[in-house]
Amino acid sequence: MSESFDLVIVNGAVFTPGGLARTDVGVRDGTIVAIGDLAQAKAATRYDATGLTVLPGVIDEQVHFREPGPVHKEDLESGTRGAVLGGVTVVFEMPNTDPPTTTAERMADKVSRAHGRAWTDFAFYIGASPENAEELATLERLPGCCGIKMFMGSSTGSLLVADDANVACVLRSGNRRVTVHSEDDMRLSERAEMVKDGADPSMHPEWRDVETAVRSTTRLLKLAREARRRVHVLHVTTAEEIALLAQHKDIATVEVLPQHLTLAAPECYERLGTYAQMNPPIREARHREALWAGLNAGIVDCIGSDHAPHTKEEKERPYPRSPSGLTGVQTTVPLMLNHMNNGKLSLDRLVDMLCTGPARIFGAIRKGRIAVGYDGDFTLVDLKAKRTITNDWIASRAGWTAFDGMDVTGWPMGTIIRGRVVMRDGELTGPPMGQPVRFLETL
Ligand code: DOR
Repeated sequence: MSESFDLVIVNGAVFTPGGLARTDVGVRDGTIVAIGDLAQAKAATRYDATGLTVLPGVIDEQVHFREPGPVHKEDLESGTRGAVLGGVTVVFEMPNTDPPTTTAERMADKVSRAHGRAWTDFAFYIGASPENAEELATLERLPGCCGIKMFMGSSTGSLLVADDANVACVLRSGNRRVTVHSEDDMRLSERAEMVKDGADPSMHPEWRDVETAVRSTTRLLKLAREARRRVHVLHVTTAEEIALLAQHKDIATVEVLPQHLTLAAPECYERLGTYAQMNPPIREARHREALWAGLNAGIVDCIGSDHAPHTKEEKERPYPRSPSGLTGVQTTVPLMLNHMNNGKLSLDRLVDMLCTGPARIFGAIRKGRIAVGYDGDFTLVDLKAKRTITNDWIASRAGWTAFDGMDVTGWPMGTIIRGRVVMRDGELTGPPMGQPVRFLETL
């Protein structure tokens, strides 16, 4: 071809809509314009992907970057920097910030803060609360918004919609899929006595037990059906919920996390203490195996990280004053490639979980596929690279990962966003030029 391109990726194994193919990809003005033999094509940038597998850009639909927040902590710049080092091209940021993202003004503020500082493309959730429930139909359509997030159980921050009447009110307001943290707050309060000062972190899954999760998800599914509203159930952790959600695939999509697919109680609490503390909790191995079975049966629709950048100082407070959450945006790709190499999932399933799945669930325009007319977003991986995950590698201001010291096979080698190479062989190329993602339902 004699056409000229801004970028061609040559000599890689490319995950095309027809499957993995030895072919090249050409990008112009941020858009994929050619898939084929581009060996002779003229291009401003030529990326030799020999030995690499070229995947669609990875989308992390659950991160907490705490923008706005205290200056010494994580923000959109450091959070998205970690994302691109980990091969992530798009993030959706959660609303449990201080102040929470619950109004049009705060949404506009977040979008403007992201311009010139976000390394990835981005969108923000609008947080549901009893106070803004009536306005959500308008708020969920704001530019830069990926949809509503509802906390049915309290976690970090003050956002909470606990009782059926308020949950129903949120579900009646608007049309887009509602994303939900599903733990029953009434049961959490009733049992809070169990984790008084001095309790062991291994009590976390006893307090926030299987019944806490199942009760909430059962209530949510009933209320969603009554409201004729789609829901996206985040970080599902129990075998019982996987079985339940399999009965509701018409209205419910499901996210699981690498933390819950990789770690298990009681070992994780013995080894990591409060560094394994998160909501909903990491549970015993039988649940982890059920999540894997659900993932491979197609009940699970995507994987997010729930990146929660609590500092070491915060995490080292005695349980239960230690905050819940693990960092993760940078480790999702290596962890999942390692699981693939260990035979836990296929490359097809991995791409569906990390790229195509999130784009489909949220109706993200031009994302999630390597196809002509789509954004030139790519995650280039070396399926066979052997590396060790270490705290030193983590760009998050939190500076730690629960997977420190873990040897993995499979590593992100390049991150390309709308045709711009932003990470190659672990080196960043700036400046950050992330843009808001657009969505089918708010075209
Ligand atoms: O462990 C968690 N931490 N789970 C959540 O849902 C929220 C997150 C956070 O914001 O710290």
